[in-house]
Amino acid sequence: MIYSQILGVGSYLPPRIWTNDDLKEIMDTSDEWIVQRTGIKQRHWVEGTTSTSDLALEAAKLALENAKIDKSELDLIIFATLSPDHEFPGAACFLQAKLQTPGIPALDIRQQCSGFLYGLSVADTFIKSGNYKKILLVGAEVHSKGLDKTTRGRDVAVLFGDGAGAAVLGPTHDGTGSRVLSTHLHADGTYAKELWVKAPSMTYEGTYLPREAYENLEHFPQMNGKTVFVHAVKRMPEVLFEALNHNSLTLDQIDLFVFHQANLRINEMVAKQLGIPEDKVFNTIARFANTTAATIPIGLDEAVKCGKLKKGMLVASAAFGAGFTWASAIIKW
Ligand code: UT7
Repeated sequence: MIYSQILGVGSYLPPRIWTNDDLKEIMDTSDEWIVQRTGIKQRHWVEGTTSTSDLALEAAKLALENAKIDKSELDLIIFATLSPDHEFPGAACFLQAKLQTPGIPALDIRQQCSGFLYGLSVADTFIKSGNYKKILLVGAEVHSKGLDKTTRGRDVAVLFGDGAGAAVLGPTHDGTGSRVLSTHLHADGTYAKELWVKAPSMTYEGTYLPREAYENLEHFPQMNGKTVFVHAVKRMPEVLFEALNHNSLTLDQIDLFVFHQANLRINEMVAKQLGIPEDKVFNTIARFANTTAATIPIGLDEAVKCGKLKKGMLVASAAFGAGFTWASAIIKW
């Protein structure tokens, strides 16, 4: 039996930090509002022409180094992002070119905050099938260029940061050692318009970016925050329990929870509902805000770097986001 194993992780945040006070210079907001409602204190935003695949490249290089794998050994790249460099081709193709690994397949995953876990599920299945042996899985986002950074867009703009996280996966035959135990995926497209970017779109008549759509700012994300919040606090525990039951595990057997970071209040509510002790939940939102598909691999890498996540530990992850999509994974580190 083949299992998949995470051989190494890496992450990269662009250097420029925007604190909540910095945002006050460009919109009507306050550190107090942002911290109270979300737990976010700062976020990293790119400068100049830096794109999503640029961030991904840096995270990928670190993950390869930590995995002690040469890029020539890779046989697949999976790239989860909602902010690809271009409409097409996919971001994985641009990353592949920058990594200089021509010929290997490059696959994009478009499942927003659940994107990394969707990608993990694909990578896990491909490795178990025996068809792929070394997979680079990246989650990366450049949100900052797609946000309405004025008072009009403040409800969404303050929440998101740029960044990238990556993992290198390979096969193992050790059914008791370090491996991906399970992944569980879900979606409910009836809520697709609760958090979305309306334009550009093939649903308009004649052209995919009519002038009116642009003038109406339909190219900026729109979110019904309260609806997203209510569904997130329901779905995350649900999909976490699905994973625990599947593996005949109980909550207290999990050593660390690396949840998606959309709002500290969501994670606190989930932890409280389930009775998970605070020190078992690894949060990064205060420093990085919501980096969507990059959040979980950044969290895993940060947890390793600060010694919270060690070999042999059981780590559980759950995410919820636009789509709506939600997912979970349990990994023996
Ligand atoms: O990864 C994607 C998944 N996303 C999420 O999970 C987000 C889930 N939702 C949330 O986290 C919360 O709904 C938010 C943090 C986004 C918003 O919190 P809320 O308690 O739902 O606030 P609200 O949207 O109802 O806004 C409350 C007030 C409004 O003013 P009035 O109408 O009460 O006068 C807003 O205009 O806060 C105002 N407001 C702000 N004030 C200062 C909205 N954004 C801001 C802001 N700074 N940035």
